[in-house]
Amino acid sequence: MKNRSNFSSKLGFVLAAAGSAVGLGNIWRFPYLAAQYGGGTFLLIYLILAVTFGFTLMIAEIALGRKTGVSAIVAFKSLDKRFGFLGVLAVIVPVIIFPYYSVIGGWVVKYFAVFVSGGVQASAGDTYFTDFISSTTEPICWFLLFLAMAAIVVLFGVEKGIEKVSKIMMPILVVLTIIISVYGLTLDGAMEGLVYYIKPHMADVSAKTILAAMGQLFYSMSLAMGIMITYGSYMKKDNNLESSVRQIELFDTGIAFLAGLMIIPAVFAFSGGDRSALSAGPGLMFMTLPKVFASMRFGGAIGTIFFVLVFFAALTSAISLMETIVSVFMDKFGWKRRFTGIFVFILAAVMGIPSSLGFGALGFISWNGMSILDIMDFASNSVLMPIVAFFTCIFVGFIIKPKAIADEVKASDGTFTGEKMFNVMIKWIAPIFLVLILASSVASGLGWFKL
Ligand code: PHE
Repeated sequence: MKNRSNFSSKLGFVLAAAGSAVGLGNIWRFPYLAAQYGGGTFLLIYLILAVTFGFTLMIAEIALGRKTGVSAIVAFKSLDKRFGFLGVLAVIVPVIIFPYYSVIGGWVVKYFAVFVSGGVQASAGDTYFTDFISSTTEPICWFLLFLAMAAIVVLFGVEKGIEKVSKIMMPILVVLTIIISVYGLTLDGAMEGLVYYIKPHMADVSAKTILAAMGQLFYSMSLAMGIMITYGSYMKKDNNLESSVRQIELFDTGIAFLAGLMIIPAVFAFSGGDRSALSAGPGLMFMTLPKVFASMRFGGAIGTIFFVLVFFAALTSAISLMETIVSVFMDKFGWKRRFTGIFVFILAAVMGIPSSLGFGALGFISWNGMSILDIMDFASNSVLMPIVAFFTCIFVGFIIKPKAIADEVKASDGTFTGEKMFNVMIKWIAPIFLVLILASSVASGLGWFKL
């Protein structure tokens, strides 16, 4: 495709893709899953899955994007007409996620604003968070602000917007994460938490652990929603695809691990070793942590740094969601970036407002105990993503054949070290696991059993 924009360098590509991958999922979800499912054993299982399953799917998506040079909606169809539906499904995922992800992004900006203006004690109040999210206009204003920031970056385009922002934000994010984890480890009682996080607990490990790790891996690496296809379409042919994927995975897993170091020892120190404090879900970040910061020396400053880094993580992920949607409309209808960006901004604003109101004015709408935001999350992550990933495996494994991907991987320097594993994973192992993930996450979402 002519005039397609590009990342200017491999580093730019890797940081932008890592920017997409490193997000809220790494910071609040990974730590509490690890704590809940066996500490060191979960870490080990996650790592093994990342270098096999995650590697395979990420290679496939980036290679598909680079090979076709277009976003998901056109990519599948251009290789086989019958698979046009897969492109459409893949694109529905970011369309659903982007609005509600930005609602949470808005909460992060609000907490940053509160911390930076010295509100650490107030934010630790028992009803502070619930009062905030159940109000009507305030969360919507923060949501629109967050959305506008993502939109501005996307309007600047791939190289001047996304690449530039990622090159600045991602290194800062790493440094801030290290600062907070080191500080957290110096707190009284933190060592016990560290041991709990890292030491294997075989008793907490079960089949569910593997499924939980796998589900997390998916979401965390931004797979199965066309993002990596889109970013791959902006990648230059002479950049090494395989080593890029390894670097993105290392980045994503490294930050997830550090997030655990940042949060678990501090929460342990605060709660006197009560591990139930860790399983508070979204409440962990917005309710438990502010209390932890309020009780710390320099808590206001540490909390401010924390919310800056969460903001960077969330913004770069939101940018990748928006870019994916924008590139689809541009490819499909031949629209200009500026017009498409504004269109998608308005679309997401309209779609996100119900998710925000779902905690207050629209609180009466719920399904199986889930709020509007949770329903969006369930539909996209638990249902659509495994379906898209499954069909992607079938598409690559049996329709275009793994060799088509391998050739694309080899386009830069002729090598593909993981090729043998890739072939087996994509045809057999990954599809089987994906069916299991789908079955178990749907069953647990519908309340048939608790995962
Ligand atoms: N990968 C991101 C995270 O870990 C989440 C995300 C999912 C971002 C989908 C963009 C798209 O939080």
